[in-house]
Amino acid sequence: MTATTERAVGQPIGRIEGPDKVRGAARYAAEFQVGDDLAYAWVVQSPVARGTLRTVVVDPLVEPDDVLAVLWHGNAPRLGPADDPELAVLQSDRISYRGQAVALVVARTLEAARRAAASLQLEIDEEPHDCLLRVDHPSAYEPEKVNPGFPASSALGDVDAALAGAPVTVDVTYSTPALHNSPMEPHATTALWVNDDLVLYDSNQHPPGVAAAVGALFDLPADRVHVITEHVGGGFGSKGTARPNAVLAAMAAKVTGRPVRLALPRQALFSMVGHRTPTIQRVRLGASADGRLTAIDHKAWGQSSRLFEFAEQTAVTTRHMYAAPNRRTGHRLVRLDMPTPRWMRAPGEAPGMVALECAMDELAVALEIDPIELRVRNEPAVEPESGVPFSSRHYLECLRRGAERFGWHDRDSRPRQRREGDWWIGTGVAGATYPAMVQPSTARASRLPSGDYEVSIAATDLGTGARTILTQIAADALEVPVAQVRVRIGDSTLPMASVAGGSSGSASWGWAVTGACRALRSSSASSATFDSSELVAQQEKDGKHAFGAHFAEVRVDAVTGEVRVTRLFGMYAAGRILNPRTARSQFRGGMIMGMGMALHEESVLDPAMGAWVNHDFAEYHIPAHADLESVEAEWLDEQDDQLNPMGSKGIGEIGIVGSPAAILNAVWHATGVRIRDLPARLDKIL
Ligand code: MOS
Repeated sequence: MTATTERAVGQPIGRIEGPDKVRGAARYAAEFQVGDDLAYAWVVQSPVARGTLRTVVVDPLVEPDDVLAVLWHGNAPRLGPADDPELAVLQSDRISYRGQAVALVVARTLEAARRAAASLQLEIDEEPHDCLLRVDHPSAYEPEKVNPGFPASSALGDVDAALAGAPVTVDVTYSTPALHNSPMEPHATTALWVNDDLVLYDSNQHPPGVAAAVGALFDLPADRVHVITEHVGGGFGSKGTARPNAVLAAMAAKVTGRPVRLALPRQALFSMVGHRTPTIQRVRLGASADGRLTAIDHKAWGQSSRLFEFAEQTAVTTRHMYAAPNRRTGHRLVRLDMPTPRWMRAPGEAPGMVALECAMDELAVALEIDPIELRVRNEPAVEPESGVPFSSRHYLECLRRGAERFGWHDRDSRPRQRREGDWWIGTGVAGATYPAMVQPSTARASRLPSGDYEVSIAATDLGTGARTILTQIAADALEVPVAQVRVRIGDSTLPMASVAGGSSGSASWGWAVTGACRALRSSSASSATFDSSELVAQQEKDGKHAFGAHFAEVRVDAVTGEVRVTRLFGMYAAGRILNPRTARSQFRGGMIMGMGMALHEESVLDPAMGAWVNHDFAEYHIPAHADLESVEAEWLDEQDDQLNPMGSKGIGEIGIVGSPAAILNAVWHATGVRIRDLPARLDKIL
């Protein structure tokens, strides 16, 4: 780029660290070389879902020269109080779920650690367990709040009377299974103590948060824990907070006096780092004969653990999608002998919109109205429950422009009408939405002696392009070409950044970066720092959402029931798009994950064993390239000056919200079979 007046934001710039990744020069948490006495740790996981670990018997003849330590609750160092009880590793004899870390072997080699771990004898008093979520569970309760702080229930008007009086109603129950995050890079930590300070090379979405959480456990202030997170191979929420691997590695390094590396094997991700809760959702809709909703009722059951409460916000999107005078949402939780659920890309919104958007499709069928037209007739003027105007909402434009682009207009609304050879063909539509959130962050901008600029913030790049986008934002705020800007991220000692989660990274960090760069430009100092906390606190939180529309075309094999998604298309309105290249990748990635949710992914519970029986890629199926035929994303140019200095909304999660419903609605259109229990496996379709 030569002209400094050309704006960098909006340009399809490739990932700055791309060449390093291709060359293998980009280092991940388990790849840092930290001395020649590096030791390796292997986690021993509970084989039962509930009980007491009485003792651990070590066979002294297994790897006697290489084993450095075997840690369990009987000998592990005592940790300080944990906000997250999942981090109080090896502190108690209680076993709260199958797969919980109960011991750790540290050895000179990975092989020795693994072999010694396999030889440990665990003496456990096993107790009966309870792992199955059901709506009539006697201990189901209403939590006070759902993630990340919404009231658990909401009500307006008289839903029961409106449903009783509605000429057309839908009353359906949808269920979604537990799902597991599958980042390319499994969770890993390399830990070492330097004097009495802790250094962690850790794969996570929030270095300052990890520093604070792990520091508290070892009685250290956050500034004596140095978390380095240079590159991250995906997280999807599962790396949003410190995970047990960081604590175990730090503990092992402390006990052995050596640097210790703990890289979780893929199988351990299926119990140690959090999952998407299974849900059971009942949606009731009432409408007038001309398709105006008179009542919306959405109740969601989810799972939590014995260790602490995680309440997913499953029904929260229903509060702002459609107009209706009478409305109610609610959540119920059941605490089971299972791992604590965590964030997984659009936690709550993704499963919640399966139920709402499939129910809307069922209502359109009952009313004999086109599903897009039904949505048009129920477009709210303001946020229906808060009464707050939307800062911008172009949902109907997404539906209309998406319909044109996808080719919707001559669709025969009846199911099971199109057949080509052995394939039934169908199309479906569903809405998409995700909150436009922003969180306080701080950034520093400095002039370098070379004339270039350095911008620092403790953000992380999960592979999404965050480093690149921050460079673009900084270049524009400094009014210099991107080549003159170096962005430093991925280090907890840099100015405080919010979590790379809630699709809020670019908005939050970009705001701080813009502020710091503008401050530097208007001063002669060598550096300037900007903290967005005050401005963020003054912002109206309600009424800010990205919207979109998902369209799917499927073909279903009439003989085998196999579903192929021939076309998946998303049209979004998400504020200003900062980098079309990385944005397209985010949208499409979300849609592909939505395809996994609709058709492939399922953590299969064995209630007798108290565990999911599939825990690797052979048995937990995520979409592969061979599953993708056409997956495309486009967007509207949406202006919204109430968001942040860039005018951007988050885009990391909206692609998985509604795309599963579009596929399921298309499966119904192709076959006449309504799948209400995800995923849409072929045995349910035949
Ligand atoms: Mo995302 S589940 O907010 O990291």
